[in-house]
Amino acid sequence: MDFNKKQTLVIITSPALTEYLQAELEELKFPIDQVKDTSIHTKGSLNDAVTLNLNLRCGLYVHYLLGQFKCTRPEDLYKKIKEIPWEDVITAEEYISIVSRVETESVDNTMYPSLVVKDAIADRMIEKTGKRPDSGPDRENVVINLYWNKDDCWVYLNTSGKKLSDRNYRKMPYKAPLQECLAAAIIKATGYNGSQTLVLPMCGSGTLAIEAVLIGQGRAAGLMRDNYCFKHVKGFDEAYYKNLRIQLNNTKKAPIKPIIATDIAPQAIEAAKKNAQTAGVEHLIEFSVCDFAKTPIPEGKGIILLNPEYGQRMGEITELEETYKRIGDWFKKECAGYKGYIFTGNPDLAKKIGLRTFRRIQFFNANIECRLLGYELYEGTRKEKSPK
Ligand SMILES: C[S@@+](CC[C@H](N)C(=O)[O-])C[C@H]1O[C@@H](n2cnc3c(N)ncnc32)[C@H](O)[C@@H]1O
Repeated sequence: MDFNKKQTLVIITSPALTEYLQAELEELKFPIDQVKDTSIHTKGSLNDAVTLNLNLRCGLYVHYLLGQFKCTRPEDLYKKIKEIPWEDVITAEEYISIVSRVETESVDNTMYPSLVVKDAIADRMIEKTGKRPDSGPDRENVVINLYWNKDDCWVYLNTSGKKLSDRNYRKMPYKAPLQECLAAAIIKATGYNGSQTLVLPMCGSGTLAIEAVLIGQGRAAGLMRDNYCFKHVKGFDEAYYKNLRIQLNNTKKAPIKPIIATDIAPQAIEAAKKNAQTAGVEHLIEFSVCDFAKTPIPEGKGIILLNPEYGQRMGEITELEETYKRIGDWFKKECAGYKGYIFTGNPDLAKKIGLRTFRRIQFFNANIECRLLGYELYEGTRKEKSPK
């Protein structure tokens, strides 16, 4: 198997993030072959996949195509998987994990294809090397993904292993932290590029603040972790990986204005500081404990972004209605000159803001449909017309 060959690379992401992922791929000069709901197809070698793993902010996994074939029965699956030269991909000492997504009537037990793939790989490895690799659910080593749709199968090496959103800096979570890829996309959607003042009240465990520094300074997102699936395969080019890390680490960091991040909960600020420290960006964030409405707003223009809770139970909702109303009042009275953004999954609560939006961007947080709502804040910001 020639890992220098440009193969199909499929970058998996979350719903509504492909727009941001596409922009990243274009910036890194990768061709865009196909854009689907939660993935983008491009082309590249295994080293290109390494580049993507270290750089992408809005991708979850980078898949490298190993094989593609027609298949209508588990027996065909076994035969075709066994034809792939696995001895060129892994050593028999490796630990492999199989992940399958199966949408075919050819099998009724969706776990079964994973077993077939595992057996076919093990049997080929025994024939070729006399030893079979260990296997199980752990995704720290080699991860193989099977997609079986009707009578088409694709087999990928998941070069990332664990999700790329696991950047490795969030050692201390607090309430409802945003997934890092989503946080990065939200920051991009506000138009933040490091040159503006950025204020983040209700910062929680600091995900938005940390992602904003990484984006603003142009720091690669993947440098804080060192384990990726690509490191466990035979085609791994260690020199390329090491040089790329050195090059990315040495890239000049763009200067940014300090980001202001506050939260009413001291434990949230403690977590955010710790996480920012782990990410090596704490000196670029001014943290303080306060009610959002006491957050200092520097003179001039800038961006304010809040991710308030959106509540589950009735008691919570009533309390949150008041919080959302206060956010609207504070925006209007204290934040003139800024663009205000709220990220929320509760449209009824969002209405309590009471201001007219200039942007409404759809996102999904886990499976909850959310909106990033943008408000132009100026003296006398217009109140939203009350519904008839
Ligand atoms: C949904 S969490 C934010 C999660 C954050 N985006 C993250 O990724 O970790 C909402 C945060 O708002 C904070 N909060 C709630 N009411 C507040 C208030 N009145 N003033 C300031 N912060 C508040 C909570 O302490 C919580 O940390």
